[in-house]
Amino acid sequence: MSEMANTDPEGIDGVRMTWNLWPRTKVEASKCVIPLAATISLLRPHPDIPTLPYAPLRCKTCSSILNPFSRVDFTAKIWICPFCFQRNHFPPHYSQISETNLPGELYPHYTTVQYTLPNQNPGANYDQHVQSVQSPVFLFVLDTCMIEEELEFLKSEIRRAVGLLPDNALVGFVSFGTQVQVHELGFSEMSKVYVFRGNKEIGKDQILEQLGLGSGGARRPSAGFQKGIPGQGGGGFGFSSFTRFLLPASDCEYTLNSLLDELQTDQWPVSPRTRPARCTGVALSVAAGLLGACNPGTGARIIALVGGPCTEGPGTIVSKDLSEPVRSHKDLDKEAAPFFKKAVKFYEGLAKQLVSQGHVLDLFASALDQVGVAEMKVAVEKTGGLVVLSESFGHSVFKDSFKRVFEDGEQSLGLCFNGTLEINCSKEIKIQGIIGPCTSLEKKGPSVADTVIGEGNTTAWKLCGLDKSTCLTVMFDLSSSDRSNTPGAANPQLYLQFLTSYQSPEGQLLLRVTTVTRRWVDVSISSEELVQGFDQETAAVVMARLTSLKMETEEAFDATRWLDRLLIRLCSKFGDYRKDDPSSFTLNPSFSLFPQFMFNLRRSQFLQVFNNSPDETAYFRMLLNRENISNAAVMIQPSLISYSFNSVPAPALLDVSSIAADRILLLDSYFSVVIFHGMTIAQWRNLGYHHQPEHQAFAQLLQAPHDDATIIIRDRFPVPRLVVCDQHGSQARFLLAKLNPSATYNNAHEMAAGSDVIFTDDVSLQVFFEHLQRLAVQS
Ligand SMILES: *[C@@H]1O[C@H](CO)[C@@H](O)[C@H](O)[C@H]1NC(C)=O
Ligand SMILES: *[C@@H]1O[C@H](CO)[C@@H](O)[C@H](O)[C@H]1NC(C)=O
Ligand SMILES: *[C@@H]1O[C@H](CO)[C@@H](O)[C@H](O)[C@H]1NC(C)=O
Ligand SMILES: *[C@@H]1O[C@H](CO)[C@@H](O)[C@H](O)[C@H]1NC(C)=O
Ligand SMILES: [Zn+2]
Repeated sequence: MSEMANTDPEGIDGVRMTWNLWPRTKVEASKCVIPLAATISLLRPHPDIPTLPYAPLRCKTCSSILNPFSRVDFTAKIWICPFCFQRNHFPPHYSQISETNLPGELYPHYTTVQYTLPNQNPGANYDQHVQSVQSPVFLFVLDTCMIEEELEFLKSEIRRAVGLLPDNALVGFVSFGTQVQVHELGFSEMSKVYVFRGNKEIGKDQILEQLGLGSGGARRPSAGFQKGIPGQGGGGFGFSSFTRFLLPASDCEYTLNSLLDELQTDQWPVSPRTRPARCTGVALSVAAGLLGACNPGTGARIIALVGGPCTEGPGTIVSKDLSEPVRSHKDLDKEAAPFFKKAVKFYEGLAKQLVSQGHVLDLFASALDQVGVAEMKVAVEKTGGLVVLSESFGHSVFKDSFKRVFEDGEQSLGLCFNGTLEINCSKEIKIQGIIGPCTSLEKKGPSVADTVIGEGNTTAWKLCGLDKSTCLTVMFDLSSSDRSNTPGAANPQLYLQFLTSYQSPEGQLLLRVTTVTRRWVDVSISSEELVQGFDQETAAVVMARLTSLKMETEEAFDATRWLDRLLIRLCSKFGDYRKDDPSSFTLNPSFSLFPQFMFNLRRSQFLQVFNNSPDETAYFRMLLNRENISNAAVMIQPSLISYSFNSVPAPALLDVSSIAADRILLLDSYFSVVIFHGMTIAQWRNLGYHHQPEHQAFAQLLQAPHDDATIIIRDRFPVPRLVVCDQHGSQARFLLAKLNPSATYNNAHEMAAGSDVIFTDDVSLQVFFEHLQRLAVQS
C-alpha cells in the first residue's frame, strides 16, 4: 500500500487500520478473523495540517464536511458529498472557486485540516484584551495521609507546577485525609478553610451551598468583573465568591506557597493496626462539585495526588483493619472483594458528573500498597484524564511526569479540553464503538451498529481531556442488508470522516476534520489483494485492546484460548500449506510478524494479570488504550537493541540467546527502559577501563545505550522507569522477564491431537510456532 509508507505509517491523518482494503460484505468480513478497526491519533501534530480561518461547509443532508474526496462541478458550482451523494451548491463566498483556485479543504493532500471556530462562550469575551481566550482551571486535590517525606515531595512538585502554569490559568486547592478541606486562595490575610466530613456522600447542591456558591446567593447577576480573570463570569454564579477558590496562578502563587508551607500530614490518630481514615471519594466529589460552578465545558481538571487506599466514606476500597489486605486479582475472580463493585459504582457516578460538566480527572498515585486505581479507572478514562502510578512521589517516574503536565513548548503534552468526536461513514459501514479515553454521547444514527464494543450506541463521543498523544480505536461492522440498489453501491471506495472539536491549550476553539478513503475488495474473487492491506502491528494492538476489554467485561472469559483459536483460524485462512502437512506451512510477509505479536501478548501483563495487582493492571490497560500504535506495540512486544564492539547497534531477538558477556542490551518495554551489561562489560566498567584514554571505544560503547535511553524517555509520558543493571545482578529480572525462554524444554508432542489450546504459558516461541503450524493445517 502506498499510503502505508515506510517511516511514518500514520501520515497526516494519524489513522491506521487493521485492514486497509475492506471486504464488501459482513459475511466476508467475519471470515477475515481480525475485525475491521481504525485507530486515530486525534490531535497528532503534523507540519502539513493547515488551519483554515473560516467555518466549514457541511453537506445539507448528512452534515459531513466538504473534503478532497468530494466531486466538484466548477461550472455549476456544485459539490457532491461522498457519504450520501447529495449535490450541494457552494455558497456565494465560494463563487471564485475553480480548478486553479481551490479552498484549502479541497487540496488533494489536505485530507486533514483544522478550522478555527468562533468562541461562543459569552463569558470569555467580556474583556476585549483577552481575545476570546478561555482560562484553563487546575484544581489540586492533595492527600495528606502519608509520611512527612512523601508529603514534602508533593508540596515541592505542586509549587513547581504552579510556577510553570501560564499566569491566567486558574488554580484551586483541596486537601484531604479523614476530612476534606477546601482552601480559599483569595487575598485575605487569614486564609479560610471549608471542612467537609469524609464519611458520607454529599450532594452537588449541598457542596455548593456549603461553599457559599449555592443557588441562593449565586444566581444574582454578578456585578463588577475583576479585570485579568478571563474565562469565568456570565456563567450564573457570584463571580466574586468564585474567585475565593479559583484564582489566576500569578495572583495566588504566594498564598498557595505559604499554605503549603504550613500544611501538615493528616493529624487524626491512627492505631498501629489500622489504616488511616482517607476519604478520597468525598474529596473528589467536593472537587467536582466546586468545578460544577464553572461554565460547563470550561477547560478544568482535577489533579488528584493520592498516597493510599480510600478507607472512609463512598469510594472505599478496603477496610481500615490492616489485617484485611487490599483486594487482589484472585479476590476479584472469586467475588471476594466486598468493596469493589460499590466503589466502582461510586466512581461511575463521579465520571458521569464530570463528563456532564466537561471536566477531567487526572490521577497521580503512589504507595507501597494499592490505592484503588482499578476502581477509579472509570472516572479517569471516561474523562480522558492522565494517570501515573509510581512507587514514591520522590521517584522520577512521578516527578518528571508531573512536571511535563505543566511544561510549555516542545515538551508540552498539549493538553486540550472539551473535545467532541463525531464520525461519519459510508452507508455500508456501522460503528460498534470506541475503545479508549472517551464517553459515548448516545447520539443515535443510521451508522450505529447493533452490537456494542466499548463506548458505543452512538456516532458522537465526549473527550473532556485530550492531548497530542490521545489515540482511539474505532470498531466497525458492515451492514448486513442487501445494498445492491442503494446509491453508490458500485462505488469502489469507502469513506470515513472524523470530526474533532476541542479547545486548544491556548484556549482557541478548533475543529479538526480528517477524511480518509479505502478501497472495497471483492474477497470472493480474490483474497490476495486483501492480504496486502493487512497492518499487522495495528492488528496486534487492536487485538490486545479488545482482549483486555473482554477480560474486564465478560464473565469467565478465557483470553488465551480465545486468542489461540483466532490465531489458528487466521493462519488456516491466510497461510499457504498442503492440508495436514505442517512442514509445508508458510505465511505471507503481511502476516508473518503477527503470530509473534500474539505470542508476546499471551505472555504480557495484559493477559497474565495474576503477576500484578489490580491497580497495576488497570494502569497498564489505560495506557495501552490511549497510546499510539508504535507505543502500544512496544508494551506488547518490547524492543531490544544490542550494542557491541564490532558492530553498530542493532535490533536483537527478544530471546535469552541475545544475552552475551561482551554485549550491552537496551530493552524498551514502554513502562520501563532497561540497560543491561553483559558480565565482561560490567567487569571492565568496574575496573574503570572507560576512564583510560586508550579505552575510548569502550567508554563510547558504555555511553551509547544511555544516550538512546534518554531519547526514549524524553518523549514519553508517563516517564518510564530507567533500570541500569548487570548480568546476574538482582535487577536483571526486569530484562529476563521479557525474554523468550528459548529452547528450554520441548513439549511439542504433549498436546492431544485436535486440541484448540495450543500452548501452556511458558513455551518458547519455537514450540509455539510448531503447534500453530500443526493446528493451522489440520483438515
Ligand atoms: C464545549 O464543546 C461543545 C461541543 O463542541 C460546544 O458546544 C461548547 O460551546 C463548548 N463549551 C465551551 C465552554 O467551550
Ligand atoms: C454524519 O454525522 C451526523 C452527526 O453525527 C449525523 O447526523 C449524520 O447522520 C451522519 N451521516 C452519515 C452519512 O453518517
Ligand atoms: C443502546 O441503546 C439502547 C436504546 O436505544 C439501549 O436499550 C441499550 O441498552 C443501549 N446499549 C448499551 C450497551 O448502552
Ligand atoms: C507515537 O508517540 C510518540 C510519543 O510518545 C511519538 O514520538 C511518535 O512519533 C508517535 N508515533 C507516531 C507514528 O505518531
Ligand atoms: Zn452528505
